[in-house]
Amino acid sequence: MNKLRLGIIGVGGIAIGRHIPAFQKLSEQAAITAVTDVNLERAESVAKEFKIPHAFESYQDMFPHVDAVVICTPNKFHAEITVKALEAGLHVLCEKPMAMTTAEAEQMVEASKRAGKVLSIGFHYRFMKESQAAKKVILENEIGQPIVVRIQALRRRKVPGWGVFTNKSLQGGGSLIDYGCHLLDLALWLIGNPEPVEVSGTAYNILSKQPDQVNLWGTFNHETFDVDDHVTSYVRFDNNVSLMLETTWAANIEEDQETLSISGDQGGLDVFPFRLNYAKHGMLFNSAASWIPGEEDYGLEQARNFVGSCLGQTEQLVKPEEALHVTKIIEAIYESSEKKRSIILE
Ligand SMILES: NC(=O)c1ccc[n+]([C@@H]2O[C@H](COP(=O)([O-])OP(=O)(O)OC[C@H]3O[C@@H](n4cnc5c(N)ncnc54)[C@H](O)[C@@H]3O)[C@@H](O)[C@H]2O)c1
Repeated sequence: MNKLRLGIIGVGGIAIGRHIPAFQKLSEQAAITAVTDVNLERAESVAKEFKIPHAFESYQDMFPHVDAVVICTPNKFHAEITVKALEAGLHVLCEKPMAMTTAEAEQMVEASKRAGKVLSIGFHYRFMKESQAAKKVILENEIGQPIVVRIQALRRRKVPGWGVFTNKSLQGGGSLIDYGCHLLDLALWLIGNPEPVEVSGTAYNILSKQPDQVNLWGTFNHETFDVDDHVTSYVRFDNNVSLMLETTWAANIEEDQETLSISGDQGGLDVFPFRLNYAKHGMLFNSAASWIPGEEDYGLEQARNFVGSCLGQTEQLVKPEEALHVTKIIEAIYESSEKKRSIILE
């Protein structure tokens, strides 16, 4: 069997920290044959460090040498590069968020349908052991019909001070599009991706606009900070399930907190830390998991699923139509915040 030839586009933090090491562990099925970056010096140095044969400045120059690409550029370039790669006949794993706007995400879905190639999005939370177990709980109807979903993706003082995370024109937003998107995607997948019909939200950037803020993740310029650092929102779906989401990079709270809870008509589920909540024999129970099977390395699981999907051996876990829903809701939250009213989605 021929190995899948992979190319990485944009070799910054996530490419070096997650994707390159993960794909290189799958050496029986895949090989990273090239990297590309607008910063050619960086591309060449990463190629040398990871023993990757080719480095390019332009991703189009790399296309003839690979079967699939992993897109790790700032969000602004996700849609354009994805569409071009699919049109060149390549499979694509694009980092999250899928795109900055719904229109872009729709173009990506259309391009993947036209090309008949795999398009997946880097929502790696779905590969976590807790998430996989939660999906089984839901599929086996252990909590019955989901009713209310609560998400808290809270970092007390962790604005990513590196890269371009605080630049709205390159990223499209801050804490919501960067961090909250993971938990939102996970929740939508768990509850079976119902259609969102109404979205209300408020996005703040008050704390990070103040000078001399304590920040544990690097430094940023408060004067040019133009993205959200704290977002609250409420989403109603066509099946009348409702979802409340709060996400932040910077807030005056006791500590970081990451929770996703689903209350169903037969029981409840907390994903992080994993716990089932139910009533039985006239009593209330909470049962925490003391061991969960599965792969600890979700980056590797993500890579394995992408390679398997490209080779036609595995069912793709993160489908582009699902990721489109995440972008649609995020866009509506930002729009709702700007217009100071709720948004009705068609
Ligand atoms: N899954 C996760 O949890 C996770 C974590 C971090 C980042 N990300 C995502 O990964 C992407 C990159 O983030 P990062 O932290 O690696 O950023 P980074 O700034 O460290 O790296 C981005 C790289 O892309 C290069 N680049 C910029 N424009 C390009 C273009 N048009 N063509 C080719 N290369 C280009 C830059 O020179 C840089 O080397 C973002 O979309 C981000 O949201 C995801």
